[in-house]
Amino acid sequence: MRVVTKTMAVAAVAALALAGCGRSDDGGSGGGSGSGSGDKFPADSLIGVSLPQKTSENWVLAENLFNTDLKAAGFKPDVQFANGGVGEQQNQIQSMVTKGAKVIVVGAIDGSQLGTQLKAAKDSGAVVIAYDRLLLNTDAVDYYVAYDNFKVGVLQGNALLEGMAKKKPNGPYNIELFAGSPDDANAKVFFDGAMSVLKPKIDDGTLKVVSKQTDFKQVVTQGWKAENAQKRMDTLLSGNYSSAPIDGVLSPNDTLARAIITSTKAAGKPVPVVTGQDSEVESVKSIMAGEQYSTINKDTRNLVKATIEMIQAIQKGQEPKITDTKQYNNGVKVVPANLLEPLIVTKENAKEAYANDPTLSKLTN
Ligand code: BGC
Repeated sequence: MRVVTKTMAVAAVAALALAGCGRSDDGGSGGGSGSGSGDKFPADSLIGVSLPQKTSENWVLAENLFNTDLKAAGFKPDVQFANGGVGEQQNQIQSMVTKGAKVIVVGAIDGSQLGTQLKAAKDSGAVVIAYDRLLLNTDAVDYYVAYDNFKVGVLQGNALLEGMAKKKPNGPYNIELFAGSPDDANAKVFFDGAMSVLKPKIDDGTLKVVSKQTDFKQVVTQGWKAENAQKRMDTLLSGNYSSAPIDGVLSPNDTLARAIITSTKAAGKPVPVVTGQDSEVESVKSIMAGEQYSTINKDTRNLVKATIEMIQAIQKGQEPKITDTKQYNNGVKVVPANLLEPLIVTKENAKEAYANDPTLSKLTN
């Protein structure tokens, strides 16, 4: 069994290098390249995977897993990052079409900027799968595979309330809100999920957003960049919390959670209850040390596996597994989705949650 560790992912993020890290790979048995009669395309076809920038560890893990597991399934993988931005991603997808990819899997930087290239993919007969992030305003997308993004937000909202109640049984609680990058279609869905829990509590006075910044546009973090979250947190603290305590912060992911914690420490404040997402190594360590309150486990191994199973079904001319046909309207069509269940993780359930993760399980003893 091939193991892509979080440590490798962290190293790769740090290096921001495209060069793959060394790994022991059993090579798999291969999926065979023979063709069946109902096949949509040959079983050893080229599969393109276009990933966004390395804004969190999960993308680096995905790169490694797609490369090894597509190969093990008998396909030819072409897995690329678009660290240079939207233009680079557009060119990559176009070149995957030119090379004859039969399926193109896209984790978009900006899901609304790829219409022309996705149309070219469809015109060439390729199947387009939106991976983790929905592709917007185009009918040139066939399927969506992701963890349930709205549910991620709901879990974060609930964790924030629960964490603060553990420290102080009754409100009012002073909080601040952060969202992800506005060009990522997921960011608003995470925020809406969290606000479905938090807004009623803001309205009834249990929660006080001291800065009054409660609109998505006011709380976004451009590019999912830690430095942007840290800067905004510095400003929020100096402008609103010189005398008031801050009880909690809604953070949409782990990278931003750690930046928010760094900012509160630098301001000499006790660390508030901070949520997160992705189960990044440094955040799991922080949770075990009693700093960051929660994260979300969206095991990348399962998401890549679900995507490859979808590709295999399509290759054989079968209907892939779909769990949702209502939620993900991309502005032009409702995209049939296979949604996986995210899991909230705090110090209390970390051991159990990461029991089958070779890297994270080492951190929870
Ligand atoms: C992913 C998150 C990730 C974020 C930043 C989102 O689209 O769903 O898991 O934290 O991008 O990379």
